[in-house]
Amino acid sequence: MTRLPVVVLISGTGSNLAALLDASRAEDCTYEVVAVIADREAAGLEHAHAAGIPTEVVRLSSYEDRDAWDRALTAAVLAHRPELVVLAGFMKLVGPELLDAVGGRIINTHPALLPSFPGAHGVRDALAHGVRISGCSVIEVDAGVDTGRILAQAAVEVLEEDTEATLHERIKAVEQPLLVDVVRRLTAGR
Ligand code: GRF
Repeated sequence: MTRLPVVVLISGTGSNLAALLDASRAEDCTYEVVAVIADREAAGLEHAHAAGIPTEVVRLSSYEDRDAWDRALTAAVLAHRPELVVLAGFMKLVGPELLDAVGGRIINTHPALLPSFPGAHGVRDALAHGVRISGCSVIEVDAGVDTGRILAQAAVEVLEEDTEATLHERIKAVEQPLLVDVVRRLTAGR
């Protein structure tokens, strides 16, 4: 079976990347992670090294402006000819060049139930608002901040004693299988 090439972008520990890599070991998996790109020396790059997958770091600070960084990131992604690009805890807004180049085949995972609590602090903001139910959303990426079409969501109950860290951990536990499921769905039968 042909597996469709997926490039994953990360900034952090790569918990979702690890889940995507684990799931890709299944015989009937529909995708293959062909490269992992980060905007910093992210700890999660280790998962890629361990799996023998090529990595690259494309730092914003290495370029004279955001457009130049966007072009470099686009070139790094396109070099691997992905059918799908997955932002898995990638903490930068991607630019128009990358969005145009991958034409709708780019998704993101966000640790809140969009359209509530977009942005970099979704877990903290939901907690501060006092919601009783939060969760995660897998969305298509567009030019806005977490405004793209929602592809899947999962709910997580907020507990009285929750901190940002404990709530985020429980959200990550449902976020990982949800993301794997969406990536499998989007790469099936292409
Ligand atoms: C995920 O919850 C994702 O939605 C978010 O960052 C988390 C992944 O971070 N924005 P990490 O790669 O596990 O550090």
